[in-house]
Amino acid sequence: MARAEQQRTTDAARRPLDPAAIAELRAIFGPERTLTEEWDRAVYSYDASFKSVLQPGLPDVVVQPASTAEVAAAVRVAAKYRAPVVPRAGASAMTGGSVPHRGGITLDLRRMNRVLEVDLDNLQVLCEPGIIHKDLNERLLPHGFSFPVDPGSTGMATVGGMVANNACGMRAVRYGSTAHYVLGLEVVLASGEVIWTGSPGSRALQSASGLNLTGLFCGSEGTLGVITTLRLKILPKSPARGVVTALFDRLEDAGEGTRLVFRGGIVPSALELMDRAAIRAVNAYKAGLDLPDAEALLLIEIEGQPAGVREAAQTVAQTLGALSTRVQWADDPAEVAALWGARSVLGAAAGLIRPHSTRVATGEDIAVPIARMPETLRAIHAIAERWAIPCTTYGHIGSGNVHSAFVIDPRDQDEVERVLRASDEIHELALAMGGTVTGEHGVGSVRPQFMAREHGPALAAMQAVKAALDPLGIMNPGKLLPAEGSDGV
Ligand code: LAC
Ligand code: ZN
Repeated sequence: MARAEQQRTTDAARRPLDPAAIAELRAIFGPERTLTEEWDRAVYSYDASFKSVLQPGLPDVVVQPASTAEVAAAVRVAAKYRAPVVPRAGASAMTGGSVPHRGGITLDLRRMNRVLEVDLDNLQVLCEPGIIHKDLNERLLPHGFSFPVDPGSTGMATVGGMVANNACGMRAVRYGSTAHYVLGLEVVLASGEVIWTGSPGSRALQSASGLNLTGLFCGSEGTLGVITTLRLKILPKSPARGVVTALFDRLEDAGEGTRLVFRGGIVPSALELMDRAAIRAVNAYKAGLDLPDAEALLLIEIEGQPAGVREAAQTVAQTLGALSTRVQWADDPAEVAALWGARSVLGAAAGLIRPHSTRVATGEDIAVPIARMPETLRAIHAIAERWAIPCTTYGHIGSGNVHSAFVIDPRDQDEVERVLRASDEIHELALAMGGTVTGEHGVGSVRPQFMAREHGPALAAMQAVKAALDPLGIMNPGKLLPAEGSDGV
């Protein structure tokens, strides 16, 4: 089915929820935490994806659990009535992953936001899934520690959502994805049974014991169970950091420069790209940010001990000297904060590159091999030009993960059609370059149709795991894996 059509299809698999299920939920959660009015449920019908603008998904009922036992009770009701269960927290994702396209029971996990234990000596914390990333780090930073994975949306994204989507963000180039920091998970399975992955009694930082269920649940997008408690690894925070800013006349040179940074022996703690449109969007967003105009800009952050940081910055500057038109260095904390402040407004600013327009999230986080980044960047621009859709290109180029943020007038039907086709081509491009259709945002309900092509026969193994852990198919159905005989929700 063509993508444009597929985005709009109303889900045939949607069945009304038995009112007896709602009565049972109300008995567990009370009327306060059982939301059935349409205006309450509407709040849960979308996320940050354009798909959920085109096709919102209204839950039949929303409950707000405050404990693992309550999550388990809700899942048992869902199993009894064969109702979909959709876990949701910050809903900042751009993939429709928490949008209940098939109705059913939405679990709003934001009340489960406690830090249960901070164990600095053993480099770990125990927390609930609804805690916001920034709030977790605010608990750790006074002790000189952090949870180092950093999604752009630190003020909105919950840690449970980060694990469920295996989020990455700006520091994955050095620290890896969220999954690298998950030591164990308490999970409510589709049967309502509660398990701990990663050895329930363990406080060890590593384990080679058993099948890696922790890894399986990271990035499972609520399709295998509901994560209710997390044991996460934390790290001491580096005392010093600085940012090299490098400007380029050609977009491809920023891609080539990225490869050279590693060849120079440096692993930055962030290596971010902004193209000319992204730079202009940021400057238009807020007076005073004043990023220099260029075809492309790299922000290369180095972390470590102060002397080492300076030395590494010099190496980066020398390495990029021949390619870049200008290289600058900042280690004054205010200057560094201003640069990251400019980067962080980009998501909100991208829409400003054209009047009366909005940035739409339609498929914008492909990851490709670093060596193929120069041609990928050029090809992204060519796709945007061919479909005549303005686009800012930016992102985590150091880990091969870039965003193509399309900007359209969503009231213009023709633009809507064109942007969906352009985003299909971006996904095709990722596969053609030997990459993946999603580097960090996840599959959700916007990318299941690419899973067969990306994974080949491994998709059947994924479906077998799903069938084994969720035989009734109630856990976030239609997400991540294509439905039998279909190419997605
Ligand atoms: C970012 C989000 C879109 O990097 O992933 O800004
Ligand atoms: Zn990103």
